[in-house]
Amino acid sequence: MIDFEKRSAEYVEIINKAVSEYVSEKSFGGRESSGLELMLKAMAYSLENGGKRIRPMLTLEFCRVCGGDYMEALPLAVGVEMIHTYSLIHDDLPCMDDDDMRRGKPSSHKVFGEANALLAGDSLLTLAFETVLSAPNLSGEAKTKAGLELAKAAGCSGMIAGQVMDLANEGRAASLDEVKATDRRKTGKLIKVSAVLGCIAAGADEEKIKAAEKYCENIGLAFQIVDDILDVTSDEETLGKPIGSDSQNEKSTYVSLLGLEESARYASELTENAKKSLEIFGSEGEFLIELADRLFDRKN
Ligand code: IPE
Ligand code: IPE
Ligand code: MG
Ligand code: MG
Ligand code: MG
Repeated sequence: MIDFEKRSAEYVEIINKAVSEYVSEKSFGGRESSGLELMLKAMAYSLENGGKRIRPMLTLEFCRVCGGDYMEALPLAVGVEMIHTYSLIHDDLPCMDDDDMRRGKPSSHKVFGEANALLAGDSLLTLAFETVLSAPNLSGEAKTKAGLELAKAAGCSGMIAGQVMDLANEGRAASLDEVKATDRRKTGKLIKVSAVLGCIAAGADEEKIKAAEKYCENIGLAFQIVDDILDVTSDEETLGKPIGSDSQNEKSTYVSLLGLEESARYASELTENAKKSLEIFGSEGEFLIELADRLFDRKN
């Protein structure tokens, strides 16, 4: 039996330490940081600020289950978390979801102003690719592949497309299929690429990559459905971000279309499907099985 708490705490510690190093004035990729203090402070404020670190954890764990040394995948994990963090900074802006709290603290734009929040997001997005493409222990081929996959998942046919669709669904009753297509992009793509990057770092074969993708397609959709449920059922203190954001913005979500009970049932079904796709990893898949259950049961 694996000790889930222990391994996830170890991963979170490794990830927290690594992300801090990339945005500290001292070790800012070994570069000159004078004059950049404000931007670094804004980047660090959001990046170092809690967060469950699910995506980078997927990168490290998929590298491990595919037989790789997960420390070699760490720069890829950091890159993914930078992109996720930038997406949250922009998602909270007044022109987007207009939310004032994130990860238990005032959102970036409340502290640094809108323009600096926008730029801190831009900086994290670009630094993510610098980080991936300068991973010290990976081959040129692996780094290029990782960079390309990450760009596709984060960009205009991936997460950004999802955010555009999400905004277009505001104030109208989008169909269930439209909401599903939105969620697969806005949340699912980055979750999926997080795992794929771990597989790439390990030099995994196509069959294992396919299994990782299947797992993430299922947990990715379940993740957004649970996020939408918590937006209704949780409280700001537990969640670390405002509740009721979706209804305030008249978002079409699973919850608004199907209700809480049916949404939870569907998320549970997706979680079971995710677990089934891990068979290829045998007993090594134990952590990921537990992770799927915990993401379904999460409180924040
Ligand atoms: C929040 O993601 C945004 C969604 C895609 C639903 P997380 O719930 O992973 O946020 P953090 O990183 O833990 O703050
Ligand atoms: C976020 O979806 C998706 C992103 C790409 C950031 P939400 O807008 O529901 O995320 P939260 O609830 O603000 O974290
Ligand atoms: Mg949003
Ligand atoms: Mg939001
Ligand atoms: Mg939400």
